[in-house]
Amino acid sequence: MPIVVVVGGQWGDEGKGRIVDLLARKARVVARYSAGNNAGHTIVNERGEFKLHLVPAGIFYPDKTCVIGNGVAVDPEVLLDEITNLQEKGIDTSRLVVSDRAQVIMPWHKELDRLDEAMRGDAAIGTTGKGVGPCFVDKVARRGIRVADLLRPEDLNPRVETALEYQNRVITGVYGGEPIDMSECIEKYHQLGLRLAPYVGDAQAVVLDAHRRGDTVLLEGAQGSLLDLDHGTYPYVTSSVPSSSSSGAGLGVGIGPTAIQRVVGVFKSYSTRVGNGPFPTELFDSTAERLRDHGKEFGRGEYGTTTGRPRRIGWLDAVSSRYSVRFNGLSALALTRLDVLDGLETIKICTGYELDGKVVDTLPARQSVLERVRPIYEEMPGWTDATSEVRNFDDLPKAAQAFIRRVEQLLECPVDLISVGPSREQAIIVNPIF
Ligand code: IMP
Ligand code: MG
Repeated sequence: MPIVVVVGGQWGDEGKGRIVDLLARKARVVARYSAGNNAGHTIVNERGEFKLHLVPAGIFYPDKTCVIGNGVAVDPEVLLDEITNLQEKGIDTSRLVVSDRAQVIMPWHKELDRLDEAMRGDAAIGTTGKGVGPCFVDKVARRGIRVADLLRPEDLNPRVETALEYQNRVITGVYGGEPIDMSECIEKYHQLGLRLAPYVGDAQAVVLDAHRRGDTVLLEGAQGSLLDLDHGTYPYVTSSVPSSSSSGAGLGVGIGPTAIQRVVGVFKSYSTRVGNGPFPTELFDSTAERLRDHGKEFGRGEYGTTTGRPRRIGWLDAVSSRYSVRFNGLSALALTRLDVLDGLETIKICTGYELDGKVVDTLPARQSVLERVRPIYEEMPGWTDATSEVRNFDDLPKAAQAFIRRVEQLLECPVDLISVGPSREQAIIVNPIF
């Protein structure tokens, strides 16, 4: 049985959690491999509605092992809150393994995230403010604190002393902020380490053992590929190392690239983005409002799971999406929120960018250029019938079928799964993914 990677194809919030929740049924292990609690999944199942930021979506199945890999930035307070919340709703969290090699988000990371955004002013990235970027900076600077360090004062104390002495100089000297108290910080993170200890383990071994036994493993990406540090809309990206795109998956749990058999890309039937940065197909009209507020009364509108910010809305952008299909090496697409398009008279897909009178069909590297491109649209007829109760491709309105076929053509990848609503059964399996 395969190791399958599930990644977001656009700018995040494509519904990865919902797709992982669906695919997890057939998996043995579900692992997160990058990013931190900047991510947010909303999952609706028979136990209720859950917002997850760190715990993999497989936690709702009683027989799955859930892994937080070495590539994840872990905020122990957030993780422990999430665990407590799951336990209070009767979910068994004993099958959660947090990698001892994962980086820890420390108080100075959150402070630096805030101060740095303020200093950038109009050029702010629009981060989620969770300290994720500065945590990955410290990882690369070899100054990071790892989960294993939290467990023993002899490891924790000297590492915090070195890091915080440096960061307090940065906070006060560069940003004019207030220093963080050393002993308070050490004591607090030691206590958090004690509470986290039962979950800490060798995550890589869990994944490798499952693979050796022939069990299916799902590797769950966070954010979207267009926020990727290397391939995304730099500098308006997230800082995860390894990257949130499929290439980061092996690195983020400790397996080699030959172990991965399938890569599923999750795409929304339109586009959204939170935070700043180029967004060629962004809409500012009543269609944007309509798409954003679809299902708002059920908490399903386009508002950030992590920050509550209204998401920017646009039509499906086949140019940036195809680029994402290519660099992720996608084997299948999962198209989500098709039902949100129900009732629109026409639906647009961006098939190219116009730049200084010429047509561009891939994502320009230069931010200043990407900000100037104008979308070239193809307009397709919409459909009036509701799709949320449809379970077979052939039962979809003909116009919806045509839309999906066109998406496959433009993105050069088959649509194997279509989601028409938030609950588990509101899905159309066109081809079984594994
Ligand atoms: P950071 O990851 O908090 O540093 O934010 C960097 C950029 O990534 C900002 O544009 C955020 O809005 C965006 N971002 C981070 N996490 C998510 C997510 O889970 N969904 C959508 N956008 C995200
Ligand atoms: Mg999200």
